[in-house]
Amino acid sequence: MIISGSASQVLAAELAAALDEPLARVEYERFPDGELLASTPSVVDGPLVGGLFQLQDAAREWTDGEVVTVVPYMGYARQDEAFEEGHPVSARAVARAISSGTDRVLTVNPHEDAVCDFFEVPAEPVDAAGRLADPLPADLDDPVFLSPDDGALDIAEAARDAYGSGDVDYFEKTRHSGTEVELTPSDADVSGRDVVVTDDIIATGSTMAGAVEILNDRGASRAFVTCVHPILADDAYAKLSRAGVGAIYGTDTVERPVSEVSVAPVIADAL
Ligand code: R5P
Repeated sequence: MIISGSASQVLAAELAAALDEPLARVEYERFPDGELLASTPSVVDGPLVGGLFQLQDAAREWTDGEVVTVVPYMGYARQDEAFEEGHPVSARAVARAISSGTDRVLTVNPHEDAVCDFFEVPAEPVDAAGRLADPLPADLDDPVFLSPDDGALDIAEAARDAYGSGDVDYFEKTRHSGTEVELTPSDADVSGRDVVVTDDIIATGSTMAGAVEILNDRGASRAFVTCVHPILADDAYAKLSRAGVGAIYGTDTVERPVSEVSVAPVIADAL
């Protein structure tokens, strides 16, 4: 049985189909004070309150089997250390809270795999980077798969391997603030070639917009932008469009208009 949180309905439906498992019906109501009432009448008698933690609790109530929590996009994973004295390690706080209601956790391309160590139950990263090759045109011209920093190089390599051809390279990135990044281009010759820029997350879009501007200045033919988690906060989409992006492709770990490809097959394999 797959129980979907409200933010992952498309992915949950894909996963239920991939595993040939039923998809629980979840109903939502809101009280006058704003609190949410989520109930799953198809699997439990009584109502549930809230989101993930309450759905985990409900799953415990109606099954003696293993409860696996799939975290398609682990929020707060980039806060994996205390940035200043007195700051929390937010990724650890989130991981501990999720651990309390489950036997096992799967999370798709967390910002760093080491974040799985924060969970207090077995937790594994699921690599969906190969899925990013799916929506790319079949006729890429002498492609270069590029990551905006060396941390995402493995994602670019996985996308290139899944596509079947192309070079791989990366830029150097220095982050000055939440919205300001400085990119130092690599020596890769991109002139007249199609370039696929690949990262784990597009948040504000600053990283990708900077990369695409450099690529266009250097005469790249077409610049495609792909990522696992298309958060696209604030004006990210407009920022990327202004930068001259050919197309943006993401997965359904975060449901957005650009979520062209599902991670359901790789989650199904890991379950
Ligand atoms: C950071 O290291 C990540 O891999 C992404 O590059 C980053 O989260 C993208 O953020 P933004 O879209 O805000 O530049």
